[in-house]
Amino acid sequence: MAIQRVGVIGCGLMGSGIAQVSAQAGFPTLVREVSPNALEKGLGSIYKFLQAGVDKGKVPPYELDKVKKNLTGTVKLEDLTDCDLIVEAAPENLPLKKELFGALEAIVKPGAIFASNTSSLSITEMSNFCKRPERFLGLHFFNPVPLMKLVEVVKTVRSDAAAVADANAWCMAIGKTVVNCGDSTGFVVNRLLVPYMLDAVRVYEQGLASRDDIDNAMKLGCGYPMGPLFLTDYVGLDTTYYISEIMFDEFKEPRFAAPPLLKRMVLAGQHGRKTGRGFYDWSANPPK
Ligand code: CAA
Repeated sequence: MAIQRVGVIGCGLMGSGIAQVSAQAGFPTLVREVSPNALEKGLGSIYKFLQAGVDKGKVPPYELDKVKKNLTGTVKLEDLTDCDLIVEAAPENLPLKKELFGALEAIVKPGAIFASNTSSLSITEMSNFCKRPERFLGLHFFNPVPLMKLVEVVKTVRSDAAAVADANAWCMAIGKTVVNCGDSTGFVVNRLLVPYMLDAVRVYEQGLASRDDIDNAMKLGCGYPMGPLFLTDYVGLDTTYYISEIMFDEFKEPRFAAPPLLKRMVLAGQHGRKTGRGFYDWSANPPK
């Protein structure tokens, strides 16, 4: 296994999940956050999730100790010097990512693989931030990372086949199934999923059916684990809106255009689960 030591940039929703599954699979993993507070919050969410798994009898208690042993948090980028793979899960902000990869490149070994967990930005454009763009890939995980089995491994026209193979091997070693795809906005999953979620908002906006009927239709009619409006709340209305804007910009197709209602809810701060209010009221458990 060419990848032994793993670095994760960001310990938010996605970064914490990636760091967890890496450490749980036995890889020494460093996760870097910008402040001690953000780090404490991220690490806390990992241990809370694992403890919930132990309580449910889904995670053997020794796995918790394994993660404690393999996972280290830091606020210093320089601590990632020895990593063979660095997965970036920072906010979707290109100038920020440019700064991060520029700083990392100056300190990591030449053979290290850089990967971004971006769901919508161009991997090719990001690879331009590095002197070795052939070692740059997309590794797109799904929320909640510990439970979702898929990783999209995204290669660019410049990607080195050995780096792609190493990334595939690592994803499999952490228990994920890999889908390989080229660098096109949304990759495979969001290319199909985002228009579906936007259409569900359009159906609701046009008054064709109620929220619960739309969600039940897709849950019970198609066997999906969550209805599309619940899923939009779960992913975040702001995130869905942001991805749709980038996809519309790329493809210029109406199916990627955000419905006015989605935009209005985002403007009103109703971002779904993360703000407590979206199509559902998340202050209740289960959401109402
Ligand atoms: N540790 C270990 N296992 C746990 C756990 C924990 N803390 N919490 C739950 N589990 C297990 C449960 O025991 C259960 O296992 P079994 O199936 O063996 O019984 C399983 O995980 C499912 O958990 P729950 O029963 O508690 O919950 P659920 O059945 O409602 O499933 C879900 C939750 C997996 C999130 C499911 O609803 C689902 O798959 N939803 C769709 C999520 C989705 O589509 N995500 C992708 C979003 S798009 C994205 O991320 C990309 C992007 O770019 C926007």
